[in-house]
Amino acid sequence: MSSPESIIGATIDQYQLVEYLGEGAIAKVYKAYHPGRKQYASMKILHPQLLKDEDFVNRFVDEARNLRVLKHPNVVQLLDASITPRFPYLVMEYVQGKTLRQFINEYTLSQTRIPLNLTLRIIYSVGLALSFAHQNRLVHRDVKPSNILLEDTGRVVLTDFGMAKLIGQPYVTPPGLEGTPAYISPEQALGQAPEPASDLYSLGIIFFELLTSLQPHTSKDDPVATTINHLTHDIPSPIEYFPELPEEVAAIVLKATRRNIKERYATMVEFLEELTRVRLKNKTAKLPTASLKELQESSDRAASWSPPDVRLGGEPSQVSLHFIETGQVLNLKLNKEYLIGRQHKSQPILPDIDLTPFNAYEWGISRMHASLAVRPDMVSITDIGSANGTWHNGKRIPANQPYPLNHGDVLHLGKLKVQILNYLDNPKISNS
Ligand SMILES: Nc1ncnc2c1ncn2[C@@H]1O[C@H](COP(=O)(O)OP(=O)(O)O)[C@@H](O)[C@H]1O
Ligand SMILES: [Mg+2]
Repeated sequence: MSSPESIIGATIDQYQLVEYLGEGAIAKVYKAYHPGRKQYASMKILHPQLLKDEDFVNRFVDEARNLRVLKHPNVVQLLDASITPRFPYLVMEYVQGKTLRQFINEYTLSQTRIPLNLTLRIIYSVGLALSFAHQNRLVHRDVKPSNILLEDTGRVVLTDFGMAKLIGQPYVTPPGLEGTPAYISPEQALGQAPEPASDLYSLGIIFFELLTSLQPHTSKDDPVATTINHLTHDIPSPIEYFPELPEEVAAIVLKATRRNIKERYATMVEFLEELTRVRLKNKTAKLPTASLKELQESSDRAASWSPPDVRLGGEPSQVSLHFIETGQVLNLKLNKEYLIGRQHKSQPILPDIDLTPFNAYEWGISRMHASLAVRPDMVSITDIGSANGTWHNGKRIPANQPYPLNHGDVLHLGKLKVQILNYLDNPKISNS
C-alpha cells in the first residue's frame, strides 16, 4: 500500500492534509487544515484495503454516531464525518500532544517514574470520559494507552470509539477485532455482552502500568497467552514494584481489576469518588482536589437559573470548564452568565462558580474575579477588576471588557489554570 506520506498535500473536501499523525488497526490519522475556518483538525481515514469489508466501514459509522453524542472535555470532539463507500472519513478536533503510549515509553526509556500526582490525574480524567460514555449507555471496549491523547495543555483526551457498544447489547465481533490483549477484561475476552465494568478493568491495567511501567499480564510476543492470563491470574499488587505507593492507591488498582466483575467498583462514578478521596487525603495534587460534589453543587446552583435552550435542530453546544491541575470538569449551561470568585464573610454575593474549595485565596482568586458569559454563538470572559488578573497566552486581559474564548483556550485566573471547552452543535454526518 502507499506510504502514509504520499497523501500529504492532498485536499479532501476543503481539508488540506498537512501531516501524518498516527495509525491504528483500522485507520490512519492526519493533521488537516481548513482554510475557510482557519482551523486545524485531525482526519481519520480508513485503511483503503479495508474498504471492501462492510464490518470495518460499519465500525467507522458507529464511531461517528458514538462521538456525535459524546460531548465531553475528555472525549475527542467530532467536527465532521463523511461516510461514502469510496472514501469514508471522520474529522475530529486536532489534539496537539502525544499519545499516552508515547508518554509511557519515554518514561520507561529514561528509567524514571511518572509522578504519582500525574498518574492519578490521568486516570481520573480517563475515568471521567468513561463515566460520561457509560451514562450515555456506551461501553468503549478498547481502552488502552494508544487511544488516550495527552494534550500539551495538560488535558487528557479519550479517542477511538469505533468499538464502543451499547451496554448489554449482544453482538458478534468480526474476527481479529476483539479488544487488545494487554488490556482486555476477562469477560470481554470470553465474548460476553458489553459491561461498563470492562472499561474499568482496562483502565485499572493502565493504572498499574503508569505506576510500575509494566503490563501485568503481557506475555512477550504471545497475545493468546496474554489474553489467557487475564482469565487465570490476579494482577500482583503494584506495591511490589513501587514500595512507597500509598496502600490505598494500590487497593484501588486491585479492586478495579478484579477478575470477577461483581467484585469491582459498581460504577465508574464510585471508582472516581474513591480516587478523589485518596487524592485529597494524600494531597497528591498541587492544587487541593475539591470534591466533585462541592463543584457540582456550585454549578447546580447556577444551572437552576438558566432558561431552557429553545433552538431547533440537533442538540445544543456543550461548554465546559476544565481545571487543568486536578482534571476536574464543570459543565456549564447556555445563555447564562457565571460569576467566578470565592467566598468571604464580608461578601454578600455567593459566586456561581465558587472556587473556595480550591483554596482560592492562595491561588490569587479575588472574591469577585471574573464573569463568564456562555452563549450559543460565543463564550467570553470579563475580568471584573481582580487583584491578580485574568491572563491568556501570557498577557493580562483588560478589565471590564468581554474577551472572546475559543475551544481549548487556557486561561490563568490569578495562578489557577482553567481551560474552556466549547463543544459544537452536533455535526451532520453525510452518508451516501
Ligand atoms: N484527534 C487527534 N489528534 C491527534 N492525533 C490523533 C487524533 N486521533 C488519533 N490520533 C493519532 O492517530 C492514532 C490512531 O487513531 P485511532 O483513532 O486510535 O485509530 P484506530 O481506530 O485505527 O486505532 C492514535 O493512536 C494517535 O496517535
Ligand atoms: Mg486506536
